Amino acid sequence: MDLIKSIAELEQYVAALKAENKKIGFVPTMGALHEGHLQLVRRAVAENEVAIVSVFVNPTQFNDKNDLAKYPRTLEADSALLESVGCTAVFAPSAEEFYTEEEMNTTFQFDFAGLDEVMEGKFRPGHFNGVVQVVSKLFHLVQPTRAYFGEKDFQQLAIIRHMVRSMQFDVEIIGCPIVREESGLARSSRNTLLTEEQRALAANIHAVLKESTSFYSMTTVHELHDATIAAINRHEGLEVEYYDIVNGDTLQSIEKWEDADYVVGCITVYCGSVRLIDNIRFK
Ligand code: PAF
Repeated sequence: MDLIKSIAELEQYVAALKAENKKIGFVPTMGALHEGHLQLVRRAVAENEVAIVSVFVNPTQFNDKNDLAKYPRTLEADSALLESVGCTAVFAPSAEEFYTEEEMNTTFQFDFAGLDEVMEGKFRPGHFNGVVQVVSKLFHLVQPTRAYFGEKDFQQLAIIRHMVRSMQFDVEIIGCPIVREESGLARSSRNTLLTEEQRALAANIHAVLKESTSFYSMTTVHELHDATIAAINRHEGLEVEYYDIVNGDTLQSIEKWEDADYVVGCITVYCGSVRLIDNIRFK
């Protein structure tokens, strides 16, 4: 497996692959890899001739500098995991290498057709501008045939699909199902920040969401929304930041179950100081 640290090296690497007409599968990550990432990489390896993974904690998508500072960084362990699943190359630049000073200090403003005005976009202002800034630059550099994203970051996936359409990137975006721990907790790099006790507590998020899918049609959207928040907050140490039941295509909240054919509940919960996100599909 090749480890690439500079943009110049990556450009040369990709140019050589393109000259041989190789299909490139790409998985952008911020490292601290877990089974959820590895599933994406396994698919990228299986479906393409070459699989490139980026490991880069992107400073421009963090609106909270504390969150950025405590984000886990584990490149050595990540590289070993990537090698074990057949990854071809890792691109792991420093922030100074990846961004010019101007890029680092400019607030990018993309138009997401309202997709960014709800949920994560509302609670993390500027977050998706930073995500699109980094992913669009990575797409320009890596020129992937296919790029793989987890459905845990449901809103991010919708925004990336929108970005690809509006910027006319020639890449197929592949959304992959959430990978969960045995307890049901969605796999996340942030789980490493939880104590064992908090990990068990956080499993209640998925348990409550999953249970609600068995009786949702017997309640109104508003009743289910409020009951879900109450059921999670009942666990001391968990606090829901938001829970939105949305049309899965537009990400706008629905009023009635009949308002959309594709309905997803998206939630963010603080477990102590660790911010966890998850979602569940109703129909
Ligand atoms: O989902 C993530 O880990 C990040 O938002 C991404 C897509 C790698 C961009 O930094």
